[in-house]
Amino acid sequence: MLKPVRDSARSGEPIAWRKVTSLPDFVYFNHSIHIKKGIGCVSCHGDMSTMNLTRLEHPMTMSFCLDCHRAPEKHLRPPEWIFSPKNPPESLSRDEMIDLEKKLARLYHPSSKTDCTTCHR
Ligand code: HEC
Ligand code: HEC
Ligand code: HEC
Repeated sequence: MLKPVRDSARSGEPIAWRKVTSLPDFVYFNHSIHIKKGIGCVSCHGDMSTMNLTRLEHPMTMSFCLDCHRAPEKHLRPPEWIFSPKNPPESLSRDEMIDLEKKLARLYHPSSKTDCTTCHR
């Protein structure tokens, strides 16, 4: 499996990047707003810590995007959990979970972005 890495080190030729997660050109996407608004990598890419080879956890369909955009509150995480591959990263009681959801809604103020022009510009 590591042969391409060794070959690349020897020859100086960069390894070709084969995209696993991609969108058609007519869809606008930007990582930064998602990270800033409390959406963790795991919500879209799955638990990378268990993947020997990267695979697509969720097909990047319009309904995948919209399911979250309609109700983003349920997907928010504290800033220190954004990169955590686990989902949820720690076990919390039901009451603690409800408190946390309220706190995160105050922190991020997520709005529901479902206009066509959000993603098709
Ligand atoms: C809201 C969903 C979402 C979140 C959250 C998200 N990503 Fe992505 N990511 C995507 C999409 C969609 C693409 C493909 C973009 C494109 O084709 O223009 C992508 C592409 C990528 C790629 C290139 C993948 C490839 O196959 O070449 C990497 C690497 C990546 N993301 C890392 C991250 C990391 C690290 C985080 C967390 C800090 C993160 N992403 C959070 C949706 C997301
Ligand atoms: C798990 C939740 C989640 C998923 C999945 C998700 N998003 Fe988002 N997205 C958000 C949140 C939260 C925001 C910030 C909304 C706000 O402004 O409060 C956002 C914002 C955006 C924005 C910026 C909107 C603006 O007006 O500035 C774009 C563009 C976007 N998302 C595209 C996508 C696309 C395309 C996909 C699917 C490939 C996707 N998103 C999947 C949660 C998600
Ligand atoms: C949150 C992001 C988002 C929003 C909002 C959104 N779309 Fe999309 N749309 C997508 C993504 C992602 C795809 C590509 C899906 C794929 O490749 O399977 C897509 C694909 C499409 C396609 C192509 C379908 C096909 O079969 O090729 C059309 C048409 C479309 N959207 C229309 C709309 C209309 C009309 C609206 C508003 C009512 C809308 N979209 C709102 C993300 C979005």
